[in-house]
Amino acid sequence: MDTSTTPQGFEDLVGDRQVFFQEYFNRKPLLRRGALDGRTRDLVSVRQLDDIIALETVSPAYLRIAKDGRGVPGKAYTRTVTDRGAALTETVVAEQVYELFRSGGTVTWNALNHVLPAARHLADLFAHTFACPSEVVAFLTPAGKDGYAPHHDPVDVYVLQIEGTKDWRIWEPPPGRRADKASHRPEDLGPPAIETTLRAGDVLYLPYGTPHAAAAKDQVSLHLSVTVEPRRWRDLLADTVQHLLQDPGFDGYPHLADPATPDTAATLGALTARLAALLTGADTAAETDRLRETGRARAGAGRPREFERLASADVLAPAALLRRSPVPLEIGPSDGARSALLVNGHRLNVPDAVADALRGLQDGRAVAAARFFPGVDEARSVHVAQGLTRLGVLETADRTRS
Ligand SMILES: [Fe+2]
Repeated sequence: MDTSTTPQGFEDLVGDRQVFFQEYFNRKPLLRRGALDGRTRDLVSVRQLDDIIALETVSPAYLRIAKDGRGVPGKAYTRTVTDRGAALTETVVAEQVYELFRSGGTVTWNALNHVLPAARHLADLFAHTFACPSEVVAFLTPAGKDGYAPHHDPVDVYVLQIEGTKDWRIWEPPPGRRADKASHRPEDLGPPAIETTLRAGDVLYLPYGTPHAAAAKDQVSLHLSVTVEPRRWRDLLADTVQHLLQDPGFDGYPHLADPATPDTAATLGALTARLAALLTGADTAAETDRLRETGRARAGAGRPREFERLASADVLAPAALLRRSPVPLEIGPSDGARSALLVNGHRLNVPDAVADALRGLQDGRAVAAARFFPGVDEARSVHVAQGLTRLGVLETADRTRS
């Protein structure tokens, strides 16, 4: 994946990968002091949060405010944007957010990865590492205030302390891990297993279901929580079954007569056996690869920079090396001179020599734009290669695939 603008790799955050997965992952909290020393500002700053909230419209879906351990209703800091009397959208009102913050509210940005490139890269990194959906949430807490009351989250949380300090209390995950979100009464939890103060640069990992509470100390605290939504075996198996159910054998639409007719029950029996056979016969190594890829491809995972790609196609040098992209391409039969290409919903006819050139690149080889189209001059070859690059059939070979 492209991590060129990511200031951190996964090991910068959690330390040795093997130790992390053997000792901590999905087992117990991990605290790494100073893991991001001197590099936190590359991720996000308080100033950037000011800028984001100053945008002309900010959907209230991105913002939550909690005060005294409870959520503040959205109407306390939103208004309706109207145009000639007609309601357009709801937006956050920065002044009201600031007022709530001054009076002790914790401000939370959900899905900061939607609006901030550095947070997006962080979410990409985690989605790629775990093949699970990942989000980046920012918490800004005024000095001396509790953020949220003791609770646990349904997601793994990686806390990156960016500015200020925050006191954390962490309790052992209760027996029977819970993949829900729930509050706890402190008296039910007993003494915390860990009590610590996070400083800028510290990283804390909490497996899902770990009860925790945090409070800012003598200055404003900003931390990022990178969340990873676990895909447990039941989630993965449901995905596998869903995938197998795409088989056309399951297309039928029965009338579930009441009471069930013997025919319906017999068909259900046959289809159950068919599904069982598909499951038993599945290539589990290939299915593991598919599950990993679908996990990485979810929202938050890396996407190509399409504008950059299109702009680079416009200035394609004759010597630029091109290869087939991962975009599916169908090459139809030749009519004697031209062949049909089907790509991204586009159908176009190309000279057979171009179709052959594309077939010749199926093995991952790269070719210079000037020599892509055999038998024509360089300029025409580059022109045709440009067209196919814009369509996504070709890509420059120096692009890093995510
Ligand atoms: Fe939490």
